[in-house]
Parts: sequence; C-alpha cells; structure tokens
Amino acid sequence: MAAQNLAVIGVQWGDEGKGKIVDLLCESFDVVARYQGGHNAGHTVRFGDKHYSLRLIPSGILHPGKLCLLGNGMVIDPEALLEEIESLRGLGVQIDSNLKISDSAHCILPYHKALDLAREEAAGAAKIGTTGRGIGPAYETKVSRYGIRIADLLDSEVLREKIEFACAEKNPVLQTVYHKPTFDPRKLFNDYTRYGEVLAERITNGPALLDGLIREGKRVMFEGAQGTMLDIDHGTYPFVTSSSTVVGGVSTGLGIAPKHISRVMGVVKAYTTRVGGGAFPTELIDATGEHLRKRGNEFGTVTGRPRRTGWLDLAVLRTSVMLNGIDTFALTKLDVLDEFAEIPVCTSYHVHGDRWKTFPAFAVAHRDYKPEYRAMKGWKTSTVGITEFNKLPQAAKDYVGFIEDEAGCSISIISTGPRREETILR
Ligand code: GDP
Ligand code: IMO
Ligand code: MG
Repeated sequence: MAAQNLAVIGVQWGDEGKGKIVDLLCESFDVVARYQGGHNAGHTVRFGDKHYSLRLIPSGILHPGKLCLLGNGMVIDPEALLEEIESLRGLGVQIDSNLKISDSAHCILPYHKALDLAREEAAGAAKIGTTGRGIGPAYETKVSRYGIRIADLLDSEVLREKIEFACAEKNPVLQTVYHKPTFDPRKLFNDYTRYGEVLAERITNGPALLDGLIREGKRVMFEGAQGTMLDIDHGTYPFVTSSSTVVGGVSTGLGIAPKHISRVMGVVKAYTTRVGGGAFPTELIDATGEHLRKRGNEFGTVTGRPRRTGWLDLAVLRTSVMLNGIDTFALTKLDVLDEFAEIPVCTSYHVHGDRWKTFPAFAVAHRDYKPEYRAMKGWKTSTVGITEFNKLPQAAKDYVGFIEDEAGCSISIISTGPRREETILR
C-alpha cells in the first residue's frame, strides 16, 4: 500500500515559505523530490544560527540520510547546480549519493538565459519580470522537442549534434533580432561534456527509482517551487512561470501515478507578495506595503528584487484549494502582521454584478473587477517565535479561524518566525 506521500505546494505567487515547511516536515520522510521549475526558485531554510538558500536542490538535502531527486519536469542549469552543490558543501552539507537527477530532465543552456534576458529587455514595460535564468526558453525548447536532456550530456555524439543544431537557430535570433552576442557551439559542447562527466553518477531513471522506493514503503515529499498563481495554465498568464506548479505537475514531473500523492499541504503567507509583473489586486503601494516589505524582509532570494506586497486574498486561497485538492494549510509569517491595528482581507470580487469567491482571472487581467474587503482586528503584540496555539493573542486566533472558515481548509501549521523552531504544530 502507498505510504503517506505529501505534496507541499505554494498557494499564492511563490515565496510563501515552502523551504521552511519542507525542512520542518522532513524528518518524517525518506525522499524529497522536486517536480518542476529550476533555479528560478529560492527556498530559505533557517535553524539556530544557520541560513541556507536552496535553488535547484530539494530542501531535504540539509537532513542527512534523505534522498533528494531533481525530477524530469525540471529545467536544470548544470553550472548553477554544480555551484549550488559546492556552496552547500562549503556550509558543511553532505552531498554524495543522496542527490540524484532524473535522466529526462532538461538542460538550460546559456542561449536560453540570453534569450530570456534579451526578450525581457525588448518587451520594455510589458516585460514579465522573469528571474532571467532562462527558464521560459528552456521549457520552450523542451516542448519543441529539440531540448537537450540530462542523459544527453553522457552521449557526446548526440550532445554535439544537438548543440550545433540549437546554435544554428538561436545565434541568428540573438544576433539579428536582439543584437546580442552569440555562442560558440564548440565551447558549449566542451562545457556541457564536462558537466556530464561530473554529474554522471547522479543521473538516473527518476520514475523507476521513485517507484522502487514507494514499493518499499518509503515516504516521499514533493517539494513545489513557485506558486499556484504562477502556474503556466492556471496562473495569471502571461505573468507566470513556464511550468505546472500545481499538484498535477507532481505526476508528470516525476513520473509517478496520482494515487501515490496521498496528501497535499498548501503553504500560505499570512499576507500576499509577488515578484515581477502582473496583476496583484490586493497590492499596497504605500507605506503599509513598505512596512510589510521591511518587517517581512520581502526581498527575492534569487534576484534580490524587492517583492511587491499586499493583503491576504481569500479568492486566491480558494482557487488554490480547488486546483490542488489541498488537505491542509501551513500558514507562514503570521508574526509579520504583529504591528497592525487592523488587517484587511480580500473576501471576494465583484465582477459585473456577480460575486466571485474564487479568483476571477479573466476580469482581473482586464482590470474589470472590484475586490471586497473585510477588516480583521489586529493584535498589536508580538507573536514572534510562539510555539503554542493557545499562546497566540485572541485576534490572531480569530485571523487564523477566519481563514480556515473562508477558504474551507484547516491550518495545521502556523509559522511565527523564519527558524525551524519558531512554529506552532496543531
Ligand atoms: P519559498 O520560496 O516558498 O521557500 O520562500 P522563501 O524562502 O523565498 O521566502 C520566505 C522568507 O520568509 C524566507 O526569508 C524565510 O526565512 C522567511 N520566513 C519563513 N517563515 C517565516 C515566518 O513565519 N516568519 C518570518 N518572519 N519569516 C519567515
Ligand atoms: P519560489 O520557489 C516567486 C516569478 C518571477 C516572474 C515569473 C516568471 O522561491 O517560490 P521565470 O524566471 O520563472 O520565468 O519568471 O515567475 N517567479 C517567482 N516568484 N518565487 C519564485 O520561486 C519564483 N520563480 C519565478 O518573478 O514573475
Ligand atoms: Mg522563494
């Protein structure tokens, strides 16, 4: 029988605190697997005086004895991966046979990154605000069926041909359309051959590996990156990332049957943030937003960009519960709201006389909506580091209860600080 495997998924626009939650729950699992995205992700884990920032590698790597897998649904920049391995080792993290890479994950090449940056520059005000890591162009190449997969790094004939073919197409586009430097296929071939040599022992058939482990009764945690509203199909398109961030992505991005996803935990920030462009109906572009940014330390882990900030949006939570079948929430950063006398929450949207309880994506994209708020009472006292629900001020308990009632989902974890130990388990 299937053991209890858990998917941990971002409910909003990313940076909800998935890294902290995965790290916190890790002890009960044997395997942690990423199923989508690449080094656009930045997952922060803190405990004691230690601070780790993970991009490609699952947060489980910080726990000795856990197997970590980069799934086939990911796009991997091998250079970034090797850098991440070295920097984690420098912090004392053991990385040997505990890190595996699916042979059918796709590679990001430097021309993907160059195209990502060049397009953003050319788009001007209409730019997406990507992380500039080449994520979108790498997924495009995958879907075009000319991608270079991780396994291709081990076959020099195939690798050479694919790189030459890609450069013959990408170089003229970079040069003629965007007036950018081009790439020498021989250098790329040499670099990627070397990456293949270094990574060879980690490359494996991901689905077969997971299937064997699940049959043995091992427990797997699926670590989501980005968030539901950044999903390529279900997010605020085109201001999204290029992968399936929702729970459906777990199945395709790791090659495991849906029945093996036993539970889904949604990670929700107690307010909202987003990086990059796109609709953000509850955004605060005033001193209150600045307060959230400062107190919440809302600056991107990958790019250092200030994150946009705003109030909690229950329509986003309900949409996310619907799309992911979320069983329970982990509510993070409650402590960031400590100083407010009043905390407005978006409860629904008015669109042409209709009330929308889920996110009215089309109306929002066309700026044709009116959010409705309910002002919750603030608690104006510190909740930092509280570890027992009963010790929370009543107004904070009410805030938690209101979210549960309105989103129709229990909150089983409340995070009151960045550290592992600053957590309420209910
Ligand atoms: P992820 O991408 O979802 O893993 O989230 P990030 O790590 O990018 O961003 C979350 C940030 O909030 C990190 O800096 C965390 O250390 C921090 N954080 C997580 N939980 C809490 C919390 O409960 N309170 C506070 N103050 N910070 C938190
Ligand atoms: P984690 O896993 C927040 C955003 C970018 C941009 C859009 C597309 O740390 O939550 P991309 O480079 O993916 O093509 O950019 O998606 N984005 C994120 N925002 N957290 C992330 O990851 C993100 N990864 C991408 O800012 O708006
Ligand atoms: Mg992040």
